[in-house]
Amino acid sequence: MITYNENTKIFKLDTKTTSYVLGLADDKYVGHVYYGKKLESTDLGYLLRLEEPPFVPSKNLREKVTFLDTCPMEYSFSGSGDFRESCITATTAEGQQGLDLTYVSHRIYTGKEALDSLPATWGADGETLEITMEDEPTGIRVLLSYSVFADSDAVIRSVKVINGGKEAVYLDRVMSACLDMDNENYDVLSLHGSWARERHMERQSLGYGSCVTESLRGESSHQDHPFLALLTKNCTQAEGEVYAMNFVYSGNFLAKAQRCQHDTVRMVMGIHPENFRWKLEAGESFQAPEVVCVYSDEGLGKMSRTFHDLYRNHLIRGKYKDQIRPVLVNSWEAAYFDFDTEQLLALAKQAAELGIEMLVMDDGWFGQRNSDEGSLGDWTVNEEKLKGGLKYLVDEVNALGMKFGIWFEPEMISPDSDLYRAHPDWALQLKGRTGSMARAQYVLDLSRPEMVDYVYESLCAVLRSANIEYVKWDMNRPLTDIGSTYLPADRQGELSHRYMLAVYELQERLTRDFPDLLLENCSSGGARFDPGMLYYSPQIWCSDDTDAIERLAIQEGTQLLYPLSTIGAHVSDCPNHTVGRVTPFETRGIVAMAGTFGYELDPRKIPAEDREKIPGQIEDYKKYAPLIQKGDYYRISSYQDNHLFDCYEIVSKDKSEAVVFFIQVLNEPNYRSRKIRLQGLEEKATYLIDGKSYSGEALMSAGLILQRLQGDFQAQIIEVRLKS
Ligand code: DGJ
Repeated sequence: MITYNENTKIFKLDTKTTSYVLGLADDKYVGHVYYGKKLESTDLGYLLRLEEPPFVPSKNLREKVTFLDTCPMEYSFSGSGDFRESCITATTAEGQQGLDLTYVSHRIYTGKEALDSLPATWGADGETLEITMEDEPTGIRVLLSYSVFADSDAVIRSVKVINGGKEAVYLDRVMSACLDMDNENYDVLSLHGSWARERHMERQSLGYGSCVTESLRGESSHQDHPFLALLTKNCTQAEGEVYAMNFVYSGNFLAKAQRCQHDTVRMVMGIHPENFRWKLEAGESFQAPEVVCVYSDEGLGKMSRTFHDLYRNHLIRGKYKDQIRPVLVNSWEAAYFDFDTEQLLALAKQAAELGIEMLVMDDGWFGQRNSDEGSLGDWTVNEEKLKGGLKYLVDEVNALGMKFGIWFEPEMISPDSDLYRAHPDWALQLKGRTGSMARAQYVLDLSRPEMVDYVYESLCAVLRSANIEYVKWDMNRPLTDIGSTYLPADRQGELSHRYMLAVYELQERLTRDFPDLLLENCSSGGARFDPGMLYYSPQIWCSDDTDAIERLAIQEGTQLLYPLSTIGAHVSDCPNHTVGRVTPFETRGIVAMAGTFGYELDPRKIPAEDREKIPGQIEDYKKYAPLIQKGDYYRISSYQDNHLFDCYEIVSKDKSEAVVFFIQVLNEPNYRSRKIRLQGLEEKATYLIDGKSYSGEALMSAGLILQRLQGDFQAQIIEVRLKS
């Protein structure tokens, strides 16, 4: 619910348990008042501290610099006196920078408007506040949007810039959100990693200066994640305060927490300003992507559950949004590039007998693609490998009772491809320079309008040729050589963002024209696991590292923000192809069950005793999947912290059942059993575990005793059910 008090000039946004308050300072500037636990009171204008000497916003502007440098701002701008991190920088036709954005008007409306060409949260039960600010001399207008949904604790922010002047201006920086607060000796939490090691949690103290997490790779990246949170020192899974931001965008981003001289903290998030310059003609507008803000006063656990619910209910779309996904077997780790129709059908036959529901043919089915050296862009079926053609293969797989899925890497072009030989100008490139290759490939210049149609038609031709029910959309290298032979000189700075808009347009067209298709995004493992991608695909491949133990940290960092039903997780063969580790088949299955379950192996080639376990594993997955899909996630313990075991729990919304995943990474000598405290249950209720009765209160406060498992890398699932 959103209110405006005409007398106090205060806007108040209430979610289920939080309040976000902003107001007009000096009747002019849009200042931040409060964000935190829900407040009934609306009389909060005093928090702007306008009466306090010496930071008086003098009517004669004598102390304007001091005022702007201390006022908590909703959207900061540089050049007039605020020396903290700026949200917007614009250069005029005269080459000058500097803005003074002041309040013009506002509107409050029911619902939430879609964002122009960008992924965004949606929902009719929303309410939105839109504030218009203007820089009078240039006519630049900035529209700040804040939305809330009745069933969510998130506040969603976005920004639109309109050039209301008479001449073109250049936007050099447009952040999407800014949060100014008093310093509370915060820690900063972010997610870092690299290929095969995505989204490891990193917590550090915020000192004076800035703490930055960013990507300039043209993708949200393995390396950093578009997420940043401030935590009070006492913050744990269940206690303490969290202020979090997550960016609904899949390209370059900057997230910064800045501790400033007057012991205030500013947090900003948006498109990375480096390599960004957007020409805005008179009358044109620029829409910046949205940021999801979450406040929790019950630690990280509540934050995670807020993100999960928001993404499940207000971001993911399409047929599979609330459906349990088919159990798939993927040909990548099973065969890499070495397959043909006969082998795929033999694999599928065995898989079908074991209860696997879909065969995904990964990289290697097109052009002359027998290694990763070429053919990207030549999306025609290699009939030497797939004798009889794609339709024959798909029909045969369907005849086994299985669905069929296919892999694409639509954004790329190999120098060794017919496409590149015909159109060398279609790759991103800098004039007079040899392009930087990665995995022997270049990136297509998707800012060219004909490129989007070309890529789309190539994809559609394949999809229309057979009964294909799933697409894995891969992207295996970062963007370099950020230059376009299509864009004019004064628009080259738009390339990285235009590239992302084109990817979004392609996926929008794909999901609109093929509404029954299950789309899984992927980027060299999990380099594009972000909310932007979730808008188009209900699941995303989490990491190329399929080792059950490495996956614990990767999945923990991913679960911190994203529902388990979005996390692509497969059982692979051992020794693991990435780290060479050998783990029990049961453990690999249990770890993969906390995601969209599948196999990344050739079931004919694994040991018979493992193969025999597959039907039971699938049965277990099907049993737990509805709870995993819809339930509340609680992190009980982290292997990253204790170096011994990992434990997490999913509780049904009505608290009638729960499932606990316990993975003992290392065994220890000389202990009999371990005690874990469950969370999220009904205190007064009685629950059954393995036929024994426990009160919810006992399970949560005193704990559950788990008998010691013999050996390393052991795992178990514990079922908790309400006693009827
Ligand atoms: C990277 C993906 O993460 C893998 O699963 C696989 O699809 C390869 N690309 C294929 O090139």
